[in-house]
Amino acid sequence: MPSYRPVDPTVRTDLRNDGDAWAEMMAGANILLTGGTGSFGTAFVERVLNEYPDTIVRVFSRDELKQSELRARFGDKRVRYFIGDVRDRARLTRACEGATAVVHAAAMKQVPACEYNPFEAINTNILGAQNVVDAAMDAGVGRVIALSTDKAANPLNLYGATKLCAEKIFVQGNSYSAPAGTRVACVRYGNVVGSRGSVVPLFKRQIAEGRLTITDPRMTRFWITLDHAVDLVLYGLTNLTGGEIFIPKIPSMRVVDLAEAVGPELPKEIIGIRPGEKLHEVLLTEDDASHAVDMGALFVVLPLHQSWATEPRWADGDTLPDGFCYTSDTNSWWLSPTELRTMLDAASYERRGATLATI
Ligand SMILES: NC(=O)c1ccc[n+]([C@@H]2O[C@H](COP(=O)([O-])OP(=O)(O)OC[C@H]3O[C@@H](n4cnc5c(N)ncnc54)[C@H](OP(=O)(O)O)[C@@H]3O)[C@@H](O)[C@H]2O)c1
Repeated sequence: MPSYRPVDPTVRTDLRNDGDAWAEMMAGANILLTGGTGSFGTAFVERVLNEYPDTIVRVFSRDELKQSELRARFGDKRVRYFIGDVRDRARLTRACEGATAVVHAAAMKQVPACEYNPFEAINTNILGAQNVVDAAMDAGVGRVIALSTDKAANPLNLYGATKLCAEKIFVQGNSYSAPAGTRVACVRYGNVVGSRGSVVPLFKRQIAEGRLTITDPRMTRFWITLDHAVDLVLYGLTNLTGGEIFIPKIPSMRVVDLAEAVGPELPKEIIGIRPGEKLHEVLLTEDDASHAVDMGALFVVLPLHQSWATEPRWADGDTLPDGFCYTSDTNSWWLSPTELRTMLDAASYERRGATLATI
């Protein structure tokens, strides 16, 4: 049994206790959101439009069609649309002018695509991260937060390795940027319920074919809703002092339970684990835990090589016991098939008038 302050799943605790501070930080903010047309980006834009009436969001991404679809969906003048590639530093610098914060969500994130196109993954995920820090610093943006993944912890594939490098950039980049007034940090979380390219859309396609495929019946994953991911980013953006990695306490699920939740009547076919996939994911490694604190609803990994001054924001956190790590198979919070089903139907989709059948 892991030794940490467990989250009470019935209360969904949480980060939201910090909501007043978020509102203060978001008041009058002008946020550059790279990857703004993706799963996370769309949820972030929606949150801003619903909850922060005088916040402007600049969506930054490459594909004009996805941007025009977002424009048609939201139709709000507070959302601005910038075509650009994070590989293009000059364009990013221009896009950062006048912004008060950057949320960096753009990435190549499909494991097979990253393996087959390694130089492209490096250009987008690593050099793109460097460009974001450089551009924010050159444009005098105060706060930057980047999205990372559990696949960056002890990475097994190139996607994870590029995101680990990006994390290092967002931690150690403060040695350049903090003295210039730009503080950068990142959040790290696990699988997002139903995001593009995830197992839920795959299962949905398979429901039509009358069978579900499971890689390994022992496989476990962390699970987070888009709403919770947006909460985490708002928490990080509000509280970062420079160089933190924010890791939420989230539930785990067994992939077999997810299949049961999605298609209890359907036959399940075991197809074997794919190259580069782990049986279980890690959000906080033993090495991370040695310089992390437990803040109740989340862990905060603190920088090991800090050359910049920060206020002692995390002094209240509990240090973690020797040998502690936070993995999807040793988690103390599990989702049952019923809870998974409720989560799939209710999560962010409900607000958009969709259900599992229409994801
Ligand atoms: N989904 C998950 O389960 C999960 C879990 C943990 C962490 N994350 C992280 O969360 C972030 C967002 O993920 P997501 O699920 O929202 O991804 P997504 O739905 O695939 O969206 C990716 C976004 O990035 C943009 N983009 C891709 N390459 C770009 C480039 N070179 N320059 C500018 N924009 C680019 C895409 O638009 P264009 O194609 O039009 O450029 C799109 O807006 C990623 O950093 C990912 O690593 C995701």
